[in-house]
Amino acid sequence: MFLPDLNEILAGVATARLYGLAALLLICGACVLQVVIWRQKSAKYQQIPGPFLARWTSLWLTYHAYRGRRYKAVHAAHMRYGVLVRIAPNHISVASPDALSIIYGQGSRAPAKSPFYDSFVCNGKPSIFSTRDRQEHSAKRRIVSHAFSSSALQEFIPLIHSTIGDFTQRMDEFCNNAEYFDALLWFNYLAFDVLSDLAFGERIGMLKQGSDLVEIERPDGSTAHENAIALVDEREHLAAIVGIHPVLQVAVRWLPFLSGSKATSGLEDLARRQVLKRLSTGANRNDILGKLIAAHGWDLRPPTSDEVAELTAEAVTLLIAGSDTTSNSIAVILHYIATHPRVYKKILELLLEASSGRNEITYEQVKDVPYLQATINEGVRLHSTTAIGLHRSAPPGGLVCCGHFFPEGTELSVPAWTIGHDPQVWGDPDTFRPERWLEGKENRQYLLAFGKGPRACIGQNLANIEMALVLSTILLRYNVEVKSQKLETTEGFMHKPLDCWIRLSLR
Ligand code: HEM
Repeated sequence: MFLPDLNEILAGVATARLYGLAALLLICGACVLQVVIWRQKSAKYQQIPGPFLARWTSLWLTYHAYRGRRYKAVHAAHMRYGVLVRIAPNHISVASPDALSIIYGQGSRAPAKSPFYDSFVCNGKPSIFSTRDRQEHSAKRRIVSHAFSSSALQEFIPLIHSTIGDFTQRMDEFCNNAEYFDALLWFNYLAFDVLSDLAFGERIGMLKQGSDLVEIERPDGSTAHENAIALVDEREHLAAIVGIHPVLQVAVRWLPFLSGSKATSGLEDLARRQVLKRLSTGANRNDILGKLIAAHGWDLRPPTSDEVAELTAEAVTLLIAGSDTTSNSIAVILHYIATHPRVYKKILELLLEASSGRNEITYEQVKDVPYLQATINEGVRLHSTTAIGLHRSAPPGGLVCCGHFFPEGTELSVPAWTIGHDPQVWGDPDTFRPERWLEGKENRQYLLAFGKGPRACIGQNLANIEMALVLSTILLRYNVEVKSQKLETTEGFMHKPLDCWIRLSLR
């Protein structure tokens, strides 16, 4: 029998300890360095209160991001310290609706995205989401917006319907056994299938296979099967943590074995395969990648390897930005509807009226039910799909916000959860009341689920169409019962439910 050599084991333990010690020294060194640097710089923020640790080091914010509870910690800090809170040495959170037009405003002096977004850069190539340079972003946004124009959305609707057909087939099977099941998984499969169909011209096929396992190639050339949903979750969580501190961004590059780093390379590989496949089938331009290829003229000449990497970065962004955001929101909104019988009854009556009593509905019919869109808005507001404050940097020359001057480079954010639950804005912020969206338009500007200003979500209209079609189909076709009145949640970059157990029966 093979017995490991004791010396070998001891040597292994010693090496592991050495690496651990080196990592600890690196982190401590970074913290000490940061305290020294910020002792000189922090005089300008001295009068702004905040948790003691947060005034000296980013560890306070990093810790809460790691635990998936950053929005709660920042909200509690605002309740204690007021509108302006120092949540990291160089980062001021501003919990005022008036700050939105300044921090997320338009125009040449508007703040750009901060270095936080470098943690989302894929393979050294910033995408429309992660690029910080304002001009570079405008150029990318001009190109990508073609793929989300209203005529493009019209082309997408039949494809979404067709994937919803796969979804109802699987849901009908759940009706037969009358057991509770975790619908969040199935909303994820649905959103991945819709997204891959629209973006890459073919469905990954998660609904049909009843699983999110995808084949990816590791950097060493071996292949493996990974859960795509976990890859997105881990990558998003890691980016939301390491984005807070540049030292962590560097450290992560040295630690490829971290699950988040592995997730990043897994997603990159998944996206690269789709891009290469898409480039080799050049004729069809109707999917999002096809439109990007055509807009760059890469259908007329083959893209260079650098340009392929650029396209891959956009494909990774689409995978991450367009999949679990939509599925998590669908789960949350359905849960709110099912736990609020008054809303459930009202919305079902309106949908039945719009569909002339049938259990299927078209988008033409759905869009004539404003109460459905109001319910979607209310769901993403109350849950706060985007709950953290989105990071921006004060521009050259600094800026004035809420009576304070913030010098160039100050990191600023408006905490989305806090604004979404501000009684001054919403009156009864903790109540699920879709009617508030039909009473006047003045509050719409405070809905932060899709971001704000020039960097607001480019897929918002697409997401609203998909959510409206999926929710109306479910409500018309099934009776929905939830297992628990409360959804447990966590937070990476987005705020998401951990599961959503429901039981369905045919209506
Ligand atoms: C309910 C679903 C969705 C939510 C809640 C959501 C939320 C957001 C938010 C908050 C931002 C701004 C992030 C920031 O400023 O840092 C954003 C940006 C973005 N989203 Fe979405 N999103 C959703 C669906 C989608 C879909 C379906 C797509 C595409 C298929 C998409 C693509 C993008 C892109 C490309 C950006 C970057 C835009 C830019 O920087 O110009 N999103 N999204």
